[in-house]
Amino acid sequence: MAPYQYTVVVLVFSLLQSGVSGFPTNIRNPVCGYESCPATDPSMLNVHLVPHTHDDVGWLKTVDQYYYGDRNDIQHAGVQYILDSVVQELQKDPARRFIYVESAFFYRWWRQQDQATRRVVTQLVNEGRLEFINGGWCMSDEATTHYSAVIDQMTLGLRFLNDTFGACGRPRVAWHIDPFGHAREHASIFAQMGYDGFFFGRLDYQDKSRRMKAKELELLWRASESLSPPMADLFTGILPNGYNPPDGFCWDQSCSDAPIRDDPYLEDFNVDEMVRKFLETAHSQSKIYKTNHIIMTMGSDFQYENANLWYKNMDKLIRYVNGQQAAGSNVNVLYSTPSCYLQELHRANSTWALKTDDFFPYADDAHDFWTGYFTSRPALKRYERQSNSYLQTCNQLEVLGGPRSRSGPYGKGTSDTLRKAMAVAQHHDAVSGTEKQHVAYDYARRLASGWAYCKVLVRNSLAVLTGSDAPRSFCENLNISVCPLTESSKMFTMNVYNPLAHPVSWSVRLPVNGSAYSVADVQGKAVDSEVIPVPKATKALRGHRGWALNELVFQVEAPPLGYTTYSISLLQNAPPPPPPRPKAPLTIQNKFLKVTFDPATGLLSSLSNLETQQSIKLSQNFYWYNASAGNNEDSIQPSGAYIFRPNCSTPFIISKTAKIQSVQNGVVQEVRQMFSPWLSQVVRLYADSRELELEWTVGPVPIEDALGKEVITRLDTDINTSGYFYTDSNGREVLERRRDYRPTWDLKQSEPIAGNYYPINSRAYIKDKESQLTVVTDRSQGGSSIVDGSLEIMLHRRLLYDDVRGVGEPLNETSEAGGPEGLVVRGRLLLSLTPPDTAADSHRPLAQAQVLQPLLSFQEGPAPASARLEFSGLQAALPPAVHLLTVSQWDYDSVLLRLEHQYESRESKAYSQPVTVNLQKLFSTVEVMGVTEMSLGANQWKSEMSRLVWRPSADAAPQPKQPSDPSPWEITLNPMEIRTFLLRVRQS
Ligand SMILES: *[C@@H]1O[C@H](CO)[C@@H](O)[C@H](O)[C@H]1NC(C)=O
Ligand SMILES: *[C@@H]1O[C@H](CO)[C@@H](O)[C@H](O)[C@H]1NC(C)=O
Ligand SMILES: [Zn+2]
Repeated sequence: MAPYQYTVVVLVFSLLQSGVSGFPTNIRNPVCGYESCPATDPSMLNVHLVPHTHDDVGWLKTVDQYYYGDRNDIQHAGVQYILDSVVQELQKDPARRFIYVESAFFYRWWRQQDQATRRVVTQLVNEGRLEFINGGWCMSDEATTHYSAVIDQMTLGLRFLNDTFGACGRPRVAWHIDPFGHAREHASIFAQMGYDGFFFGRLDYQDKSRRMKAKELELLWRASESLSPPMADLFTGILPNGYNPPDGFCWDQSCSDAPIRDDPYLEDFNVDEMVRKFLETAHSQSKIYKTNHIIMTMGSDFQYENANLWYKNMDKLIRYVNGQQAAGSNVNVLYSTPSCYLQELHRANSTWALKTDDFFPYADDAHDFWTGYFTSRPALKRYERQSNSYLQTCNQLEVLGGPRSRSGPYGKGTSDTLRKAMAVAQHHDAVSGTEKQHVAYDYARRLASGWAYCKVLVRNSLAVLTGSDAPRSFCENLNISVCPLTESSKMFTMNVYNPLAHPVSWSVRLPVNGSAYSVADVQGKAVDSEVIPVPKATKALRGHRGWALNELVFQVEAPPLGYTTYSISLLQNAPPPPPPRPKAPLTIQNKFLKVTFDPATGLLSSLSNLETQQSIKLSQNFYWYNASAGNNEDSIQPSGAYIFRPNCSTPFIISKTAKIQSVQNGVVQEVRQMFSPWLSQVVRLYADSRELELEWTVGPVPIEDALGKEVITRLDTDINTSGYFYTDSNGREVLERRRDYRPTWDLKQSEPIAGNYYPINSRAYIKDKESQLTVVTDRSQGGSSIVDGSLEIMLHRRLLYDDVRGVGEPLNETSEAGGPEGLVVRGRLLLSLTPPDTAADSHRPLAQAQVLQPLLSFQEGPAPASARLEFSGLQAALPPAVHLLTVSQWDYDSVLLRLEHQYESRESKAYSQPVTVNLQKLFSTVEVMGVTEMSLGANQWKSEMSRLVWRPSADAAPQPKQPSDPSPWEITLNPMEIRTFLLRVRQS
């Protein structure tokens, strides 16, 4: 008890102290936000010192190791001590400021504080002395994240801040000081969340130097081509020194700059020298910015563990530098925050350069392109994407199943664990793949634990909805043909839950040991099915995890936001399926597509769309770039977790020919290509599919030759691309890319491959006037078009050197058993060929169906007679343009709903129109009693949202007025718009 009482006494004392000290804080009527900003002097150069810490939500250590300050042998960092120390120091002087960014850490700390500390902190927040900036659970990666997971992680952090501190906890500024390049969709999301401005630290060095000369380090980012301005306009500031303090002024315990020695009786008095140097720094910095305000970030990674060092020296710096004003200095230094700095820029009433492209790729030197992490850790990237699908399903079933889904026949389930694990996984050293190996395992373990809690919830909910609480199993290893129940059962049912708001058609392959099955839909109608042998590559990959000889293949159809049931039973005495044929067919084809192969090589040779009568030459193969080992004459930069640097622009072919096996029947046609013992692919065409599936399996990537390898697949076509290609931004709007070109500066290309790589989150395409070849991916990857007509995608990387950006390990992932064997990764690309003007009509729904995949679950035996075998949570499917982005329980009587227009304004003749949805007639079982619109981050009522308005230096033509809602219940979505609602509901 003693230490506890002591703390209280000290806190009370310091509160009294600040109350009587005469500083202009009004304790009875505290203000936060812009009103709490310190005074500045319009006749001076105002230097805003922003005390801050950059706390990675996992990187070299796990998130909890960072929180506690465990494993300081790896990196000295302990976030709990940072917050302890800063809170103490802030109380000593109301002029002091601090910002805090990562809610994942603040949440951990807050839970552990006593009431007295919480009161002190609340007061600091209410007075604007401690300010939350950004405020998401983490500072998300921008290249490899999907917008739906980014919105969720922001919502989680912002909700915690609002629940804990109310309006004073609402961040005004987005702050992505460390991510390695910046996505346009992130800027659009921040704008729609109500942020007034955005600051970051990293951009291409050539871009930066041009902007410095042109005074364009501060700009207005118009982040959407569809949303009418200023909806997606975001004021964007590039910080002067990354996020570090100016040289010579780092006073953290981890730094070694000189303290301010201001006692003339002691040795080494340095005030004059420090003041001179600071004034010099301030003046030179002001030359590259537009106004008489500049910002200095006083902090860095995990700094302020002993905040006294920083504040004591900054107090002196402010005193002595401002003391020079009497002698004619025009520099005014103050404690500030990013939002206070932003407010001054806004008051300047200037105009700002307009930017409409993005900040990819990021290079910090001529041979240092941060384009490797677009693909690093492909298995983690896939698991993260699947986990998003599972979380959305879990959220939906929590709403549809009502309270019994959280506490039902299978026990207590929750979506919270997976929500937090997903939020942590969005961090810029998580899904990005730039963490140490043990930390990557920790992210995966957190996701797995989240799945386990969701699984209970999903079981409960399906029990409520179906009326059957028989055991239900989920087969998570279907991608390697492992599922104990289907492998052994003679009769089982399969529930297909579809998280999309449109009916879905999905191809299912189940591992089985029988030779023939009858498959019946919910009406008892027979469904075409075929049994085919499990591919050899799959048998090798699954090892001892499963024993299925065959796969049962059929097509399922599931209703919107609901499920249906299929009954499957073994047919006795059927002959075994024919073995695969050892040759490539010349063609495989269905109603929609015709695919030809080159008989000499076994490779793809053409793709035709039979509906539109289009045909392209298409050859596809696999190659590897030899990763630079860092010993080359141009630069010592090796390829690593962040950086892609092939040491030669020509990739090595893995094999010019593929060994072929093929299987063809009325349900599926497969051409199984073996390129090498570590690389194979199945080219798969289902009877009812408009897409061609390329299921690749890469690994263990051999390194016995001591060469690091970056494995790509390349699609070479006769499409006339003239250097152009297209990639999506965080899974949403698509950006035009052009080889060896940047829209906003005159590029000097120094890395012909790596310098042309861009992130692909869900799709990429190449096109000419007639044809568009679109590739939809199953995870984030890097890719490019290095020669005309070609599109390449990096699939896997195995590297032998660290790339000297701090992670300190080569990216050399090994098998799941932890052995020395390289990690094998499997995934798929979906190819479609369409005319360019109708391409979006198919790739939009196709990509959404990859992100929100049906959840399959299995029960032994026949369906119970009383069970409800089909269900839809919607009264009707939503219009094709509308995507149901979020359905999530918010409170016991409220549900968070996000509806999204999934088309861009000019990409579809059919769907790029405003569309109206009636919220009262949305759900079939959930009764909607009331609705209130919120900001995208769900931390503010839409009606109360107001953002600072910024003027671009040159404006585009005014946008047409957009239609308004017909009634409070009927809401209209314009192209690419996302609207967020809190529904008051009655659930059964
Ligand atoms: C800002 O500048 C514009 C155009 O120069 C002017 O019309 C407007 O009055 C100014 N606003 C303020 C608040 O000074
Ligand atoms: C923010 O939190 C307060 C309670 O702190 C609550 O009354 C308010 O409704 C919340 N705002 C939103 C938009 O959820
Ligand atoms: Zn970081």
